[in-house]
Amino acid sequence: MKQLWDSRFTKAVNKEVIDFTSSIHLDKRLYKYDIQGSIAHVRMLDKCKIINSRDATRIINGLKLILREIQTKKIKFYTFDEDIHMAIEKRLINKIGSAGEKLHTARSRNDQVSLDMRLYLRDEIISLLKLIKNLQKVIIELAQKYINIIIPGFTHLQHGQPVALSHHLMAYYFMLKRDCERMNECLTRVNVLPLGAGALAGTELPIDRRYVAKLLGFQRVSANSIDTVSDRDFVIEFLGIASILAMHLSRLSEELILWSSEEFSFIELDDAFCTGSSIMPQKKNPDVAELIRAKTGQVYGNLMAMLTVMKGLPLSYNRDMQEDKKCLFDTVDITGAVLRILPNLLKSLKVNKDHISQVIKSGFLAATDVSNYLVIKGVPFRQAHGITGGIVKYCLKTNRRIEELSLGELKKFSGKFSSDIFQKLKMENCVANKQSLGGTSPKELVNVIKKEKKEQGF
Ligand code: ARG
Repeated sequence: MKQLWDSRFTKAVNKEVIDFTSSIHLDKRLYKYDIQGSIAHVRMLDKCKIINSRDATRIINGLKLILREIQTKKIKFYTFDEDIHMAIEKRLINKIGSAGEKLHTARSRNDQVSLDMRLYLRDEIISLLKLIKNLQKVIIELAQKYINIIIPGFTHLQHGQPVALSHHLMAYYFMLKRDCERMNECLTRVNVLPLGAGALAGTELPIDRRYVAKLLGFQRVSANSIDTVSDRDFVIEFLGIASILAMHLSRLSEELILWSSEEFSFIELDDAFCTGSSIMPQKKNPDVAELIRAKTGQVYGNLMAMLTVMKGLPLSYNRDMQEDKKCLFDTVDITGAVLRILPNLLKSLKVNKDHISQVIKSGFLAATDVSNYLVIKGVPFRQAHGITGGIVKYCLKTNRRIEELSLGELKKFSGKFSSDIFQKLKMENCVANKQSLGGTSPKELVNVIKKEKKEQGF
């Protein structure tokens, strides 16, 4: 099979080599961006008088026709097409003849592939940002709905202090906010024009890179042609950000799994978002959450794969870099799929209010409040901590809760206790009193939620 680059070869390339080196099965996905980039390139070649306007028009019309043919599935791709760049160029030449042979003037596949990837990733990041925002909206809605539900807050998965369920949910909102910040920052580095770097050295032809950047909406033009064709940082950075996002969503999934278990029973997942067991008739499994948790592994894997692909490469372009597509597309697909299903899963869950109100009675959740009660009464913190520890020990021995002790019993531990301690021990008050900035009091939460809704335009 004849290739566009094989004039210096004395033999046809081995069939196995064609199969092994071809990336068309993956990068055909970039066709829209490849054509968009080529049209901008040709406009520039025309404007700079590197090719004549008649040829430019022929090429642009040919490319538009090819775009429609791909969209309507009239074009099939074959392994010997090698990659999407070759496939489109070959078809263009077949269609319009010698004008088509001018498309690749002042360009190499090395800068072209980076262009396609950047155009693609720019769009995908914008779509993912919208999906994250939608998830944040669902979380904020749940946080508003459950502002008065108090759950045990955990450290080491042991009861720590009472918190508003809303506060716990909002923790995920803020993780996602940082994920969006990172994605937006990454976007500024993706949004740089690589075209014009040529194979690696730039070109002697009088091109206008700024014009191409303007046509394609790039904020900047890359500054070093060697770096430009060697750089896959923008892919790795995205894979890293997606990995952190996946980690956050995996933690949320883990909590949904844990909280819907018999042991916790804090929530119930909707039947529509669970599956059953083929053998145990009573089972209702949180598979969606489990698979979100599991897919995190693949997302991390893609990051590791790309870091490893790049780590030993001498400058500038090496064919190794072709492997970036598999990693990037896979992570984009997984992230999109997870972000599409998770909001629906969250929206459909039910909170077992009554059960939670029983659970918060155990585990001495107000112990820290007792210490701070003593601190406010002038007891040094370390002493207050020791006194409260003694009370907990006493309760464990006598099998009681702190609020079940009499004032007389409490006074044996410290003379500073008076009857107002019993108000402090109420869970509602423990939560309401945490009015420090960023604390769990509903008053503070209402402010935070209001501010965030305004900022996001929810
Ligand atoms: N398919 C290649 C890739 O994805 C395009 C660039 C190939 N360049 C080359 N000189 N072989 O990286």
